[in-house]
Amino acid sequence: MNTDNIWTHKGTFLLAAVGSAVGLGNLWRFPYLVGENGGGAFLIVYAISVFAVGIPILIAEIMLGRNSRRSPIMGMRFLTRCHNASRAWEAIGWLGAISALLILSFYSVISGWALHYLGQMLTGALKAAGPVRLEQEYAALLAAPITMTVYHSLFLGGCGLLVGLGIHRGLENGLRLLMPSLLVILLVVLFYAASVGDMSAAADFLFRFQLSDLSLAGWLAALGQSFFTLSLGMGAIMAYGAYMSGETSLTTTAFTIALVDTSVALLAGLAIFALVFGAGLAPDEGPGLMFVSLPLAFAAMPAGSLVGAIFFVLVLGAAASSAISLIEPVAAYLVERFPLSRAAAVALVVALAWTLGLITVVSFNLWSSQSPFHDLFGRSGFEVIELITYVTLPLGGLLVALFAGWALTRTESMKEMHSREPWLKLWRFLVRFVAPTGVAFVFLRALPYIEGYTLPAVGAAVIVGAVAASRLLGRQRDAPR
Ligand code: PHE
Repeated sequence: MNTDNIWTHKGTFLLAAVGSAVGLGNLWRFPYLVGENGGGAFLIVYAISVFAVGIPILIAEIMLGRNSRRSPIMGMRFLTRCHNASRAWEAIGWLGAISALLILSFYSVISGWALHYLGQMLTGALKAAGPVRLEQEYAALLAAPITMTVYHSLFLGGCGLLVGLGIHRGLENGLRLLMPSLLVILLVVLFYAASVGDMSAAADFLFRFQLSDLSLAGWLAALGQSFFTLSLGMGAIMAYGAYMSGETSLTTTAFTIALVDTSVALLAGLAIFALVFGAGLAPDEGPGLMFVSLPLAFAAMPAGSLVGAIFFVLVLGAAASSAISLIEPVAAYLVERFPLSRAAAVALVVALAWTLGLITVVSFNLWSSQSPFHDLFGRSGFEVIELITYVTLPLGGLLVALFAGWALTRTESMKEMHSREPWLKLWRFLVRFVAPTGVAFVFLRALPYIEGYTLPAVGAAVIVGAVAASRLLGRQRDAPR
């Protein structure tokens, strides 16, 4: 075994996986989803799906990565050979790579907005600005394709540099510096929010259970969010798992990742809502929560520009540690498969994601109401990209769960998990039945987009799913054990 490709420190996998998990999903999306979906009720559903769907798949992904010690695509090819299974399972790797590129493309554009607000905070440009001014600021940013492209390029270029330096010099060193700093910053922001904001209103809002507030869309959003926030279905965790030492416990690691990720989301939520309520603003702003309401709150608070700047550094750091985990699996595949240097592979991935990102950039301005995407699909390019990931992500996760649950034997999982019998049993049950069902529900999120075609689409999906499942699993049953 080539130890060049194993993390130098035992704890690095955890650091890297937490870095991947904690990102815009925690700081930007989680708070506004809770805000839109009735606070505490959303939280319960979210917690259940993290436990019943997220953690089992998280374990499965790390297991597949560590077992194959290869990038997701090559790793699945290797595992299907070892298990005499259908090569179709390689789809796990391909779907992951597609989702990773698509998500990276818009993730970088949105991170670019944070870069813009960091600049605004540093120069104090938004000091004492009112709601109208902040709405204008946000609208003006979205209306400026060149500015957005510059930010997008800076963000993606920076992340590319880090990955290009290699897993030890770039990723490992970068993460060991970045992650502890982010924790300190989060605590500073939380402390600030507690002293100048309205923490009890925030806690009341986040933890008030009102199950009736939760719609079906809320349930689906919670499921989807638990999936996205743990970085599942994209090969990110699998790629990092390939570098993980064989002795570390999968179960403890997976629970720690989920715990830290959820805590960060909650702490960030508390801080953000304390500031927003403290400034007398509404919690249900949607995606504008971080870019309009929060800067507005900072503008009204003492030393707001300084803490605002610190907050946006946190957002950028968290987003960068997630973005690099999207570059890594695809770049690692290119290096394994083609005679390419790591630098060249990373450059290629970054160039692809950058180009795709331009679609998101123009979706907010030049192509906001008329574009080839509108002609073909009746919606903007950004929405089309998002919609594709609504399908590829859960599909990847579904296949991971099925492969780990049904194709790997009990003994193999036992060997990887080093856990006690009852937990192994529970995990196998969750990953074979509960997680696939849960993930299947995530597909329903795509439904509002296909309104008129709903029935035929569901019918077709069921047929395709059944055929695919029987092919994948049927072959498997024939395999000698
Ligand atoms: N988990 C990240 C977040 O919450 C998003 C992400 C998904 C990053 C998949 C990498 C891979 O922001």
